[in-house]
Amino acid sequence: MATITSMVGDGFYDRHSHVQAQFILSSADQLERAASSVSLPEQGPVGLADLGSSEGKNSLVLMGHLVEMLRRRRAEQSFLIIHNDLPANNFNGLFQKLYAQGKPYGPDSWVMASAASFYEPISPPQTLHIVCCYSAVHWLSHVPKIPNPSGVLFARMDAKSRAILAAQAARDWEAFLRARAQEMVPGGQLIIVTGGREGEDVAGIKMYRLLDQILKELSHPPFVMPIYYRSREEIVAPLDACGFKCEHFRIQSLSTPFAEQLAINGDRIAYARATTSFVRAWMEPLLPDPRIYEMMEERMAEDPEGTGVDNVQVIAAFSRL
Ligand SMILES: C[S@@+](CC[C@H](N)C(=O)[O-])C[C@H]1O[C@@H](n2cnc3c(N)ncnc32)[C@H](O)[C@@H]1O
Repeated sequence: MATITSMVGDGFYDRHSHVQAQFILSSADQLERAASSVSLPEQGPVGLADLGSSEGKNSLVLMGHLVEMLRRRRAEQSFLIIHNDLPANNFNGLFQKLYAQGKPYGPDSWVMASAASFYEPISPPQTLHIVCCYSAVHWLSHVPKIPNPSGVLFARMDAKSRAILAAQAARDWEAFLRARAQEMVPGGQLIIVTGGREGEDVAGIKMYRLLDQILKELSHPPFVMPIYYRSREEIVAPLDACGFKCEHFRIQSLSTPFAEQLAINGDRIAYARATTSFVRAWMEPLLPDPRIYEMMEERMAEDPEGTGVDNVQVIAAFSRL
C-alpha cells in the first residue's frame, strides 16, 4: 500500500511554489469574507490553522494575512496559529522561515506545529475559528490496490480503477470534514483551495499524459499517483452530514506564471525548466528517477502547448454549523 510522503525539502518546495502562491491571491475574496464574518471569542485566542503548510513560505503569507484582517476588527485579539503537515515535512525550515524577521504574527500570538495527518483532528475540540487547506486535500491518505493501472492519474485509468480511487477519495474527504467538525467552533470558517475537475477538464492532465509516456519509455514499474481531483458534486455531497454549510464554491482554470512568462518572452527553455521544477518539488519524493525530470524538461521545451500544467482550481468556503 503506497502512502504519501511530503514535498522535496531543503527549501526546494518553497523556491518552486509560485503556482501555489498565486492561489492565495486568487482566493483573497474568501479569506476576507471569512475574516469579517467569523465570530470572535468573548475571551481567549482566535484559533487559525493551515493544513498542509509545507515549508512555510506560502503558509506565512496566508496566516499573516488572516491575522492582519482580524486585528483590524479587534486590535487586542490574541491568536493561536497552527501550521500542520505530515511528519516528513521540513518543519525546521518552516520555523526558520517563520522567525527569520522576529515574531511572525506580532504580540499575543502563539505559533505551533502539528505533524498529524489532516485526515484526523489536529487540534483539541472547538479550538479553531478559521482553517485553511491550500493545494493539499487532493492528496489521498493512501493509495488502495489498483491491479493494472493504465496511467498514473485516476483520470487516465479504466472505469474500474477509477471507481476504486473515487471511493478512497470519498472516504478521505468525509474523514477530513469530520475531523474539522470536531476541532472547529460553531460558525468557524473552512477555506479549501485544491486541484479539481469539471467534466473532462482535469487539473494538470496534459502533464500527466506526458508523464505516462515518459514512464513507459523508461519501462518504469506501474505507479499510481496518490492524488484525486474531486468534482463539485463529490466535494459538496457529504457537507451537510458532516456539519458544514457551503458558503462559496467556484472552479476556475488558471495558467501558470511560467506559461504567462513564455507568452511574453517566448523563452521555451526557461519555461520548461521552471515548470519541471514546480512539478519536481512535489513529485520527486514519489518518483525519484532523475531521468523523468530531464525528459520532462526536454519535452516541455519542445511542445509547451501540448504538455503544460494547466490548473483546474477549486476555491470553496464552508461554515461549521
Ligand atoms: C503542494 S503542498 C502545498 C503547500 C502549501 N499549502 C502551499 O500552498 O504552498 C501540499 C502539502 O500537503 C501536505 N499533505 C499531504 N497530505 C497531508 C496530510 N494527510 N496531512 C497533512 N499534510 C498533508 C504535503 O506534505 C505538502 O506539504
